[in-house]
Amino acid sequence: METKLLTANDNDLKLAADILQNGGTVIFPTETVYGLGANANNPTAVKKIFAAKGRPADNPLIVHISDLSMLDEIVSEIPKNARLLMEKFWPGPLTIIMKKCKSVPYETTARLETVAVRMPKSASARRLIELAKLPIAAPSANLSGKPSPTTAQHCIDDMTGRVDAIICGNDCEVGVESTVLDMSGDKPVLLRPGGVTLEQLREVLGDVETAEKAVVGETPKSPGLKYKHYSPNAEVIILSGSIDEISKYINEQCKTKKVGVLVFDEFPEFPNSVSISLGSNENPHSAAQKLFGALRSMDKLNIEVIFAPQIRDSGMWRAVHNRLYRAAGDNVIDLSCQSANKNTGIKMVLFVCTGNTCRSPIAEGLFNIYAKEKKLNISADSAGIFADGSPVSENSVQVLSELGIDISGKKSKQVTKDMVENSDLILTMTASHKAALISAFGSEEKIHTLAEFADFGGDVPDPYGGNTEEYRVCRDIINELVVKAADKL
Ligand code: TXA
Ligand code: MG
Repeated sequence: METKLLTANDNDLKLAADILQNGGTVIFPTETVYGLGANANNPTAVKKIFAAKGRPADNPLIVHISDLSMLDEIVSEIPKNARLLMEKFWPGPLTIIMKKCKSVPYETTARLETVAVRMPKSASARRLIELAKLPIAAPSANLSGKPSPTTAQHCIDDMTGRVDAIICGNDCEVGVESTVLDMSGDKPVLLRPGGVTLEQLREVLGDVETAEKAVVGETPKSPGLKYKHYSPNAEVIILSGSIDEISKYINEQCKTKKVGVLVFDEFPEFPNSVSISLGSNENPHSAAQKLFGALRSMDKLNIEVIFAPQIRDSGMWRAVHNRLYRAAGDNVIDLSCQSANKNTGIKMVLFVCTGNTCRSPIAEGLFNIYAKEKKLNISADSAGIFADGSPVSENSVQVLSELGIDISGKKSKQVTKDMVENSDLILTMTASHKAALISAFGSEEKIHTLAEFADFGGDVPDPYGGNTEEYRVCRDIINELVVKAADKL
């Protein structure tokens, strides 16, 4: 297919609007990232978007509007709070999910009964929609899985021959995709952090839940959350530790690999590697704006591994954190922890739950098998905050025996001061177990919840009194966390 290259002047926008009206595809700049647009009401046109990107059909699209009056034919109701958000943040980088009108095709919403809507701030984007007189469905204009495009050149690189036209406008100001907020349920849920921050949303709405780190064991609320995203060809690894530890580590890696480093202006130089700066480490807006371009540049330079610094997870940094950690597949190497381990050598891990009959014996059994397999030379034990010597629950024995692990002889044990002192690391099933241990025994530095140690949030649910299937679900959650925790050791 021939791809026309257009400018953002009014004549060219009219040509682009014609293409959209005729069921074609047009890439256009927005303030966040470039979008790959088609008529949101035309299933055939929308299918072309999925084909051009290679996007899985179960990942719904955002519908872009230029005027609030367009909402009447897109959503069936506008919740009062959603209206407040529109007044405050539209036009701008906020996408709001609401219940859809019948007329919006399921191709656009990937069979969901809800629809995501956004009014972009970019004047040329709104002018294009106004000229086309259509709501425009548009995902980011990258090949599926690649970093989103923030310059016209990125779109030309990815999409030439795959779309009818590309409007070559300015570089995107925000640089990461819009904030996605689900307003279709009882409570607002942040599905993707972006240019409008969680803190700003909470100022308007009070409580807002977050779903960006899909809770272990739950299906993600937004289909987009389950796909690996924003990945360059190179492997991305986040390094945590002091600048000295990081320098030393990178120098070592440069001996065998073509290394790229994402840095801040304040960082020292890393010789023998390609450094690209995300700006000042005090400026999240600059980091957001530069991130995707930096990842793409690394690929052009055939970099094999990209090291990146840790990023804060609040305010505008949250969006940068989210994109970078997803590009890295959450691969973080904690260099200070590595040197600490080398010195102290973690040998004994203690898992703690309430009664030591269900969760903690499961964690102990799973950990010991995994540690043996990986030749970790670390052993695990378990105990309870209120344990009375009763045998481990039958369901726990059953679901571990299904994996060939025998814990049938185990009896529950009360956690003691000696146990705490003799353990190098104590991992609890919930935050309240952790708090109880710390208040009874101190030793704060070595007590963590299992989920936080494994870099997930939340508590491991209690299967006590449940059926075998519930125990299996719990076992699988614990297994995932235990493997992640053990890998860190
Ligand atoms: O800034 C942006 O939002 C850019 C520009 C072009 O506007 N667009 C964009 O679209 O990033 P896309 O398709 O790359 O990301 C849309 C995200 C996906 O994670 C998708 O799963 C989610 O929004 N989404 C869309 N509709 C949804 C719905 N009805 N329910 C839940 N999630 C939805
Ligand atoms: Mg995208």
